[in-house]
Amino acid sequence: AFQGAAGAAAVPAAAAPAAAPAQAKEATVLFGSQTGNSNGLAKKLAKKLEAQGVQVTLSSMSDFKPNGLKKVQNLLIVVSTHGEGEPPDNAIAFYEFLHSKRAPKLDGMQFSVLALGDTSYEYFCQTGKDFDARLEELGAKRLTPRVDCDVDFADAAAEWMDQVAGSLNGASAAAAVSGGAEAPAAGAAESEYSRSNPFQAEVLENLNLNGRGSDRETRHVELSLEGSNLQYEAGDSLGVYPENHPRLVDELIEAMGWNAEEPVAVNKNGEQKPLRDALLRNFEITVLTKPLLEQVAKLASNSGIGELLEAGREQELRAYTNGRDLLDLVQDYSLKGIPAGEFVSVLRKMPPRLYSIASSPKAYPDEVHLTVRTVRYEAQGRNRYGVCSVHLSERVQPGDPLPVFVQSNPSFKLPENGDTPIIMIGPGTGVAPFRAFLGEREETGAEGKSWLFYGDQHFATDFLYQVEWQRWLKDGVLTRMDVAFSRDTDEKVYVQHRMLEKSRELYQWLQEGACVYVCGDEKKMAHDVHAALATILEQEGGLSPEEAVEYLNRMQQQKRYQRDVY
Ligand code: 2AM
Repeated sequence: AFQGAAGAAAVPAAAAPAAAPAQAKEATVLFGSQTGNSNGLAKKLAKKLEAQGVQVTLSSMSDFKPNGLKKVQNLLIVVSTHGEGEPPDNAIAFYEFLHSKRAPKLDGMQFSVLALGDTSYEYFCQTGKDFDARLEELGAKRLTPRVDCDVDFADAAAEWMDQVAGSLNGASAAAAVSGGAEAPAAGAAESEYSRSNPFQAEVLENLNLNGRGSDRETRHVELSLEGSNLQYEAGDSLGVYPENHPRLVDELIEAMGWNAEEPVAVNKNGEQKPLRDALLRNFEITVLTKPLLEQVAKLASNSGIGELLEAGREQELRAYTNGRDLLDLVQDYSLKGIPAGEFVSVLRKMPPRLYSIASSPKAYPDEVHLTVRTVRYEAQGRNRYGVCSVHLSERVQPGDPLPVFVQSNPSFKLPENGDTPIIMIGPGTGVAPFRAFLGEREETGAEGKSWLFYGDQHFATDFLYQVEWQRWLKDGVLTRMDVAFSRDTDEKVYVQHRMLEKSRELYQWLQEGACVYVCGDEKKMAHDVHAALATILEQEGGLSPEEAVEYLNRMQQQKRYQRDVY
């Protein structure tokens, strides 16, 4: 936990009553984060509150001891929603505790929730909504209303923080003056570059890793971080701001009859850019969400979009928005005559894409490497392109600048002790962080055993970084590797099949305290791998299905089972 220094010494042991103006307040900031966004925001809030003299405890939900809950005066929750309305991995245990009969009465507590989510999902911000409702049910009082954020969360999150800080401020202003408002001592010098101020990294390399004849294209992109002061660790992610496909932008401008050079506002500060530039870089045009359709329906009242939004037609709405983009909407509803400036003001800001970093900073100082699969498919009668991956594939060359920032991911980290065995499961581009892990272990001379499970479609064309794994095997940095090439044989083989074939040894490694890492596709792969782990515990350890689940939960709690899944 991250304890605030400011004002701490002045706080008496007995809790201060809410109205006492001269006492420093305390607040507990808990985050539940899958990709690191909630974590970053929680840190920011903690700093902000400390600067005004609040005594802050900052913790991941998974590290927080729930029996401490009764003592918390102000609980501030920052939590994302994952998949179909599920809590992130590091929030599950706390979420279940709070929703169980074991949860205590929380009469004396004040709380507020910042919920992160994506309006293109049905269960938008569900986990945040659940926490908000449950805390009220347990008797806690809402300090400020919950705020639900869409993918472009910066402004809404900042507003929530201001409200929370303002509400706590009333009683802590005096303490802030007497306790001082120094910023907590920073560790390494912080970079000036961040999500809201990305660094223009120079592209050093951009190669296709797949062999000729493969169905797939995977870019290996090397970037320079020189001069940025950006630091990262193996397991962290890189945020990349892409550009929309120029053809899509031009077709949209033409369909709407706009002028590409017309200046439009790109943010709340009124900064302006020519329309074409703004549509390339500043706004999302490839996803249709319900709030977007509601706004467009207001701008085009006779278009018929409003009918699609009527109560009872949710299924139809979902079927329509799925796989369609703004150009479809404009064409299908013959939208015309909406001024460009008004139209773009209802679009979501271009969200950055997060990629698990594929390099160890120790092996490649001042560089960062990415492994990005190019997404191209056909839907609703038109070719569709993954925004960032196709941008990297078609339009980014060595020498070009790419706007990036580092997103730290504390829930995907090598064990501190280099002797601890590690098991890494990463088919496809899920293997990226394991290239970072092994680079790190090589550079630090870690002696623990390591085991990699890798898979993709074909051995001959899709074995990403094959020579590197083989060198590491030879040098003993990698102890074992098992591969599953799913389309080389009549019957499909996946990584989880290889795990089950080796269940005895795998169980042995678990008994020796191995840490397990899973990276890659969530819905199918990570789910099946989880089931395989449970099966191995049952078969080899004689556990009941319930005990196997319990064992995996415990591993998760102890950070011995970490997932970076998407
Ligand atoms: P497939 O495309 O032949 O079905 C990386 O994308 C690899 O993961 C591919 O070999 C892909 O196989 C495989 N894959 C697809 N579904 C999976 C699942 N449920 N579990 C594990 N691997 C899977």
